Amino acid sequence: MGNCTSKPQTSSKPQTSNKPPMKAVTSSNDSASRTRVMAEREYHNVESSTYVLPKDDREKDRLHEPEFTTQLFGKDINVLDVGCGPATWLMDLATEYPDSNFYGVDIADTFPQAIHPRNLHFQVANALEPLPFNFKFDFIQVRLFTLALRESEWVVAFRNIYNALNPGGIFQVIETCPLMNTNDPDMIKIRTSMAQLLRKKQQNPDMASQLGKVLEQENFKVVHKETLELPLGHGTPADIAAGDVSKGVLLGMAPFMAAQMNIDVEEYKILVNKAGANMGPAKTSVTLWGYLGQRPSDI
Ligand SMILES: C[S@@+](CC[C@H](N)C(=O)[O-])C[C@H]1O[C@@H](n2cnc3c(N)ncnc32)[C@H](O)[C@@H]1O
Repeated sequence: MGNCTSKPQTSSKPQTSNKPPMKAVTSSNDSASRTRVMAEREYHNVESSTYVLPKDDREKDRLHEPEFTTQLFGKDINVLDVGCGPATWLMDLATEYPDSNFYGVDIADTFPQAIHPRNLHFQVANALEPLPFNFKFDFIQVRLFTLALRESEWVVAFRNIYNALNPGGIFQVIETCPLMNTNDPDMIKIRTSMAQLLRKKQQNPDMASQLGKVLEQENFKVVHKETLELPLGHGTPADIAAGDVSKGVLLGMAPFMAAQMNIDVEEYKILVNKAGANMGPAKTSVTLWGYLGQRPSDI
Protein backbone atom coordinates (compact mmCIF):
# COMPACT_ATOMS: atom_id res chain seq x y z
CA MET A 1 0.00 0.00 0.00
CA GLY A 2 1.16 3.50 -0.47
CA ASN A 3 -1.90 5.58 0.01
CA CYS A 4 -1.42 6.88 3.52
CA THR A 5 -0.71 10.57 3.94
CA SER A 6 -1.76 10.98 7.59
CA LYS A 7 0.98 12.31 9.78
CA PRO A 8 0.47 12.29 13.52
CA GLN A 9 2.27 15.04 15.40
CA THR A 10 3.16 15.26 19.04
CA SER A 11 4.97 17.63 21.30
CA SER A 12 6.71 14.73 23.04
CA LYS A 13 10.41 14.90 22.31
CA PRO A 14 12.20 11.58 21.99
CA GLN A 15 15.06 11.07 24.42
CA THR A 16 18.60 10.89 23.20
CA SER A 17 20.78 8.04 24.38
CA ASN A 18 23.01 5.05 23.52
CA LYS A 19 25.12 5.98 20.51
CA PRO A 20 25.05 3.23 17.87
CA PRO A 21 28.10 1.98 16.07
CA MET A 22 28.49 4.04 12.89
CA LYS A 23 29.13 1.06 10.65
CA ALA A 24 26.68 0.74 7.74
CA VAL A 25 24.95 -2.64 7.57
CA THR A 26 23.58 -4.16 4.40
CA SER A 27 22.24 -7.50 3.32
CA SER A 28 24.82 -10.05 2.31
CA ASN A 29 22.36 -12.69 1.06
CA ASP A 30 21.89 -13.37 -2.62
CA SER A 31 19.08 -11.12 -3.85
CA ALA A 32 17.98 -13.46 -6.67
CA SER A 33 17.21 -16.32 -4.26
CA ARG A 34 14.89 -13.98 -2.35
CA THR A 35 12.76 -13.19 -5.41
CA ARG A 36 9.97 -14.98 -7.24
CA VAL A 37 8.43 -13.72 -10.46
CA MET A 38 4.66 -13.89 -11.12
CA ALA A 39 2.69 -12.13 -13.87
CA GLU A 40 5.85 -10.23 -14.84
CA ARG A 41 6.26 -8.73 -11.35
CA GLU A 42 8.90 -9.57 -8.71
CA TYR A 43 7.73 -10.73 -5.27
CA HIS A 44 9.65 -11.68 -2.12
CA ASN A 45 10.30 -15.37 -1.60
CA VAL A 46 9.89 -15.61 2.17
CA GLU A 47 7.63 -18.63 2.62
CA SER A 48 6.41 -17.71 6.10
CA SER A 49 5.28 -14.21 5.05
CA THR A 50 1.73 -13.35 3.89
CA TYR A 51 2.88 -10.12 2.18
CA VAL A 52 1.36 -9.89 -1.32
CA LEU A 53 2.78 -6.71 -2.87
CA PRO A 54 5.74 -6.78 -5.28
CA LYS A 55 9.29 -5.60 -4.52
CA ASP A 56 10.30 -4.54 -8.01
CA ASP A 57 11.18 -1.12 -9.44
CA ARG A 58 7.57 -0.36 -10.32
CA GLU A 59 6.55 -0.91 -6.68
CA LYS A 60 9.48 1.22 -5.47
CA ASP A 61 8.31 4.04 -7.75
CA ARG A 62 4.78 3.71 -6.39
CA LEU A 63 6.01 3.95 -2.80
CA HIS A 64 8.23 6.91 -3.61
CA GLU A 65 5.21 8.79 -4.94
CA PRO A 66 3.92 10.43 -1.74
CA GLU A 67 6.47 12.37 0.30
CA PHE A 68 5.74 12.13 4.02
CA THR A 69 8.05 13.77 6.47
CA THR A 70 7.77 14.60 10.11
CA GLN A 71 9.43 17.35 12.08
CA LEU A 72 9.97 15.52 15.35
CA PHE A 73 13.69 15.05 15.06
CA GLY A 74 16.19 17.04 17.01
CA LYS A 75 19.90 16.43 17.13
CA ASP A 76 21.65 13.17 17.58
CA ILE A 77 18.84 10.64 17.90
CA ASN A 78 18.53 7.08 16.57
CA VAL A 79 15.61 6.49 14.23
CA LEU A 80 14.43 3.17 12.79
CA ASP A 81 11.89 2.52 10.02
CA VAL A 82 10.63 -1.07 10.18
CA GLY A 83 9.49 -2.33 6.75
CA CYS A 84 11.12 0.70 5.18
CA GLY A 85 10.60 -0.43 1.56
CA PRO A 86 12.43 1.93 -0.79
CA ALA A 87 13.04 4.23 2.19
CA THR A 88 11.47 7.46 0.94
CA TRP A 89 10.84 8.64 4.50
CA LEU A 90 14.34 7.78 5.73
CA MET A 91 16.13 9.31 2.74
CA ASP A 92 14.38 12.65 3.33
CA LEU A 93 14.98 12.66 7.07
CA ALA A 94 18.60 11.52 6.91
CA THR A 95 19.33 14.31 4.47
CA GLU A 96 17.49 16.90 6.52
CA TYR A 97 18.95 15.83 9.89
CA PRO A 98 22.62 14.94 9.33
CA ASP A 99 23.37 14.77 13.08
CA SER A 100 20.94 11.93 13.76
CA ASN A 101 21.34 8.29 12.75
CA PHE A 102 18.72 6.61 10.61
CA TYR A 103 18.23 2.89 10.08
CA GLY A 104 15.89 0.94 7.83
CA VAL A 105 15.01 -2.73 7.95
CA ASP A 106 12.86 -4.68 5.54
CA ILE A 107 12.14 -8.33 4.87
CA ALA A 108 13.06 -7.67 1.20
CA ASP A 109 16.15 -5.84 0.00
CA THR A 110 14.17 -3.06 -1.70
CA PHE A 111 16.07 -0.24 0.01
CA PRO A 112 18.70 1.78 -1.88
CA GLN A 113 21.91 -0.23 -1.64
CA ALA A 114 24.38 1.96 -3.51
CA ILE A 115 23.58 5.61 -2.88
CA HIS A 116 22.22 6.93 0.38
CA PRO A 117 23.25 9.51 2.98
CA ARG A 118 26.14 8.53 5.28
CA ASN A 119 23.91 8.63 8.35
CA LEU A 120 21.45 6.10 6.85
CA HIS A 121 21.96 2.34 7.16
CA PHE A 122 19.97 -0.63 5.94
CA GLN A 123 19.61 -4.26 6.83
CA VAL A 124 17.36 -7.14 5.83
CA ALA A 125 15.33 -8.12 8.91
CA ASN A 126 11.93 -9.53 9.76
CA ALA A 127 9.74 -7.46 12.10
CA LEU A 128 8.51 -10.73 13.58
CA GLU A 129 11.94 -11.51 14.98
CA PRO A 130 13.87 -9.54 17.60
CA LEU A 131 15.34 -6.52 15.81
CA PRO A 132 19.04 -7.03 15.06
CA PHE A 133 20.60 -4.06 16.87
CA ASN A 134 22.77 -3.94 19.96
CA PHE A 135 21.55 -0.45 20.90
CA LYS A 136 18.11 1.11 21.31
CA PHE A 137 16.21 3.69 19.29
CA ASP A 138 14.60 7.02 20.20
CA PHE A 139 12.02 6.87 17.43
CA ILE A 140 10.66 3.91 15.44
CA GLN A 141 8.17 3.99 12.62
CA VAL A 142 5.98 1.38 10.95
CA ARG A 143 4.07 2.62 7.92
CA LEU A 144 1.76 0.81 5.51
CA PHE A 145 2.09 -2.69 6.96
CA THR A 146 -1.57 -3.75 6.80
CA LEU A 147 -0.90 -6.19 3.98
CA ALA A 148 2.28 -7.44 5.64
CA LEU A 149 1.11 -9.13 8.82
CA ARG A 150 -1.41 -11.72 9.94
CA GLU A 151 -3.77 -10.38 12.58
CA SER A 152 -1.99 -12.39 15.29
CA GLU A 153 1.44 -11.09 14.22
CA TRP A 154 0.88 -7.41 15.06
CA VAL A 155 1.46 -8.00 18.78
CA VAL A 156 4.70 -9.80 17.99
CA ALA A 157 5.96 -6.96 15.76
CA PHE A 158 4.93 -4.31 18.32
CA ARG A 159 6.65 -6.23 21.13
CA ASN A 160 9.87 -6.40 19.13
CA ILE A 161 9.61 -2.67 18.49
CA TYR A 162 8.90 -1.92 22.16
CA ASN A 163 12.01 -3.89 23.10
CA ALA A 164 14.08 -1.93 20.56
CA LEU A 165 12.97 1.48 21.92
CA ASN A 166 14.62 3.47 24.67
CA PRO A 167 12.37 4.19 27.67
CA GLY A 168 10.55 7.40 26.68
CA GLY A 169 11.06 6.60 22.99
CA ILE A 170 8.30 7.15 20.45
CA PHE A 171 6.71 4.63 18.07
CA GLN A 172 4.82 6.10 15.08
CA VAL A 173 2.33 3.91 13.22
CA ILE A 174 0.66 5.06 10.02
CA GLU A 175 -1.76 2.63 8.43
CA THR A 176 -4.69 2.54 6.04
CA CYS A 177 -7.61 0.23 5.45
CA PRO A 178 -6.95 -1.33 2.03
CA LEU A 179 -10.70 -1.71 1.43
CA MET A 180 -11.75 1.49 -0.32
CA ASN A 181 -14.92 3.44 0.46
CA THR A 182 -16.72 3.67 -2.92
CA ASN A 183 -19.96 3.53 -4.90
CA ASP A 184 -18.32 1.93 -7.95
CA PRO A 185 -19.72 -1.58 -8.58
CA ASP A 186 -16.40 -2.89 -9.98
CA MET A 187 -14.46 -1.47 -7.05
CA ILE A 188 -16.98 -3.02 -4.66
CA LYS A 189 -16.38 -6.40 -6.36
CA ILE A 190 -12.61 -5.92 -6.02
CA ARG A 191 -13.01 -4.84 -2.40
CA THR A 192 -15.14 -7.87 -1.53
CA SER A 193 -12.60 -10.24 -3.09
CA MET A 194 -9.72 -8.45 -1.39
CA ALA A 195 -11.41 -8.82 2.00
CA GLN A 196 -11.85 -12.56 1.31
CA LEU A 197 -8.25 -12.93 0.18
CA LEU A 198 -6.88 -11.14 3.24
CA ARG A 199 -9.09 -13.14 5.61
CA LYS A 200 -7.84 -16.34 3.96
CA LYS A 201 -4.32 -15.14 4.68
CA GLN A 202 -5.37 -14.57 8.33
CA GLN A 203 -4.93 -10.83 7.84
CA ASN A 204 -7.46 -8.31 9.15
CA PRO A 205 -8.19 -5.65 6.50
CA ASP A 206 -9.58 -3.43 9.23
CA MET A 207 -6.47 -3.77 11.40
CA ALA A 208 -5.51 -0.10 11.10
CA SER A 209 -8.45 0.91 13.28
CA GLN A 210 -7.49 -1.64 15.95
CA LEU A 211 -3.87 -0.66 16.47
CA GLY A 212 -4.44 1.63 19.45
CA LYS A 213 -5.58 -1.45 21.40
CA VAL A 214 -2.57 -3.44 20.24
CA LEU A 215 -0.25 -0.62 21.32
CA GLU A 216 -1.83 -0.56 24.78
CA GLN A 217 -1.69 -4.34 25.02
CA GLU A 218 2.05 -4.13 24.39
CA ASN A 219 2.49 -1.49 27.14
CA PHE A 220 2.80 1.59 24.95
CA LYS A 221 1.12 4.77 26.17
CA VAL A 222 -0.93 6.05 23.20
CA VAL A 223 -0.04 9.76 23.15
CA HIS A 224 -1.74 10.60 19.86
CA LYS A 225 -4.37 9.07 17.58
CA GLU A 226 -5.74 10.49 14.36
CA THR A 227 -7.96 9.36 11.47
CA LEU A 228 -8.37 10.91 8.07
CA GLU A 229 -10.46 10.11 5.01
CA LEU A 230 -8.37 10.57 1.88
CA PRO A 231 -10.30 11.16 -1.38
CA LEU A 232 -8.93 9.27 -4.37
CA GLY A 233 -9.02 10.60 -7.92
CA HIS A 234 -11.49 13.40 -7.19
CA GLY A 235 -9.72 15.94 -9.41
CA THR A 236 -7.01 17.76 -7.44
CA PRO A 237 -3.40 16.78 -8.20
CA ALA A 238 -3.11 15.27 -4.69
CA ASP A 239 -6.32 13.23 -5.13
CA ILE A 240 -5.20 12.01 -8.50
CA ALA A 241 -1.75 11.04 -7.21
CA ALA A 242 -3.30 9.24 -4.21
CA GLY A 243 -5.72 7.47 -6.57
CA ASP A 244 -2.82 6.30 -8.74
CA VAL A 245 -0.96 5.02 -5.69
CA SER A 246 -4.03 3.08 -4.54
CA LYS A 247 -4.57 1.68 -8.01
CA GLY A 248 -0.91 0.60 -7.87
CA VAL A 249 -1.73 -1.44 -4.75
CA LEU A 250 -4.53 -3.23 -6.59
CA LEU A 251 -2.35 -3.84 -9.64
CA GLY A 252 0.54 -5.02 -7.45
CA MET A 253 -1.73 -7.71 -6.00
CA ALA A 254 -2.82 -8.86 -9.50
CA PRO A 255 -1.67 -12.52 -9.39
CA PHE A 256 -3.27 -13.07 -5.97
CA MET A 257 -6.44 -11.11 -6.67
CA ALA A 258 -7.03 -12.64 -10.11
CA ALA A 259 -6.78 -16.11 -8.56
CA GLN A 260 -9.15 -15.08 -5.78
CA MET A 261 -11.65 -13.68 -8.31
CA ASN A 262 -11.23 -16.67 -10.60
CA ILE A 263 -10.37 -14.49 -13.59
CA ASP A 264 -7.12 -14.12 -15.50
CA VAL A 265 -4.61 -11.44 -14.61
CA GLU A 266 -5.30 -9.33 -17.72
CA GLU A 267 -9.03 -9.34 -17.01
CA TYR A 268 -8.34 -8.29 -13.43
CA LYS A 269 -6.12 -5.41 -14.58
CA ILE A 270 -8.85 -4.18 -16.95
CA LEU A 271 -11.32 -4.22 -14.04
CA VAL A 272 -8.92 -2.26 -11.83
CA ASN A 273 -8.22 0.32 -14.53
CA LYS A 274 -11.95 0.76 -15.15
CA ALA A 275 -12.71 1.18 -11.44
CA GLY A 276 -9.65 3.43 -11.14
CA ALA A 277 -10.94 5.73 -13.87
CA ASN A 278 -14.24 6.09 -12.01
CA MET A 279 -12.83 6.95 -8.57
CA GLY A 280 -13.92 10.58 -8.62
CA PRO A 281 -17.55 10.10 -9.72
CA ALA A 282 -17.86 7.08 -7.37
CA LYS A 283 -16.58 9.19 -4.42
CA THR A 284 -13.85 6.66 -3.74
CA SER A 285 -11.66 7.22 -0.69
CA VAL A 286 -9.51 5.41 1.85
CA THR A 287 -9.39 5.84 5.59
CA LEU A 288 -6.05 6.40 7.30
CA TRP A 289 -5.02 5.97 10.93
CA GLY A 290 -1.99 7.46 12.64
CA TYR A 291 -0.82 6.64 16.18
CA LEU A 292 2.03 7.71 18.39
CA GLY A 293 2.86 5.28 21.18
CA GLN A 294 5.44 5.99 23.85
CA ARG A 295 7.47 3.43 25.75
CA PRO A 296 7.00 4.63 29.34
CA SER A 297 10.15 5.98 31.00
CA ASP A 298 9.59 4.09 34.24
CA ILE A 299 9.19 0.51 32.90
C1 LIG B 1 3.71 -1.17 1.47
S1 LIG B 1 5.38 -1.25 1.82
C2 LIG B 1 5.63 0.19 2.80
C3 LIG B 1 7.04 0.68 2.75
C4 LIG B 1 7.33 1.93 3.59
N1 LIG B 1 7.04 1.68 5.00
C5 LIG B 1 6.55 3.12 3.09
O1 LIG B 1 5.69 3.62 3.82
O2 LIG B 1 6.79 3.56 1.97
C6 LIG B 1 5.50 -2.55 3.06
C7 LIG B 1 6.92 -3.02 3.27
O3 LIG B 1 6.92 -3.94 4.36
C8 LIG B 1 7.87 -4.96 4.07
N2 LIG B 1 7.56 -6.13 4.91
C9 LIG B 1 6.54 -7.01 4.78
N3 LIG B 1 6.56 -7.91 5.77
C10 LIG B 1 7.63 -7.59 6.57
C11 LIG B 1 8.18 -8.14 7.75
N4 LIG B 1 7.64 -9.21 8.35
N5 LIG B 1 9.28 -7.55 8.29
C12 LIG B 1 9.87 -6.48 7.70
N6 LIG B 1 9.38 -5.90 6.57
C13 LIG B 1 8.28 -6.45 6.01
C14 LIG B 1 7.69 -5.19 2.57
O4 LIG B 1 8.81 -5.83 2.00
C15 LIG B 1 7.50 -3.75 2.07
O5 LIG B 1 8.72 -3.16 1.70
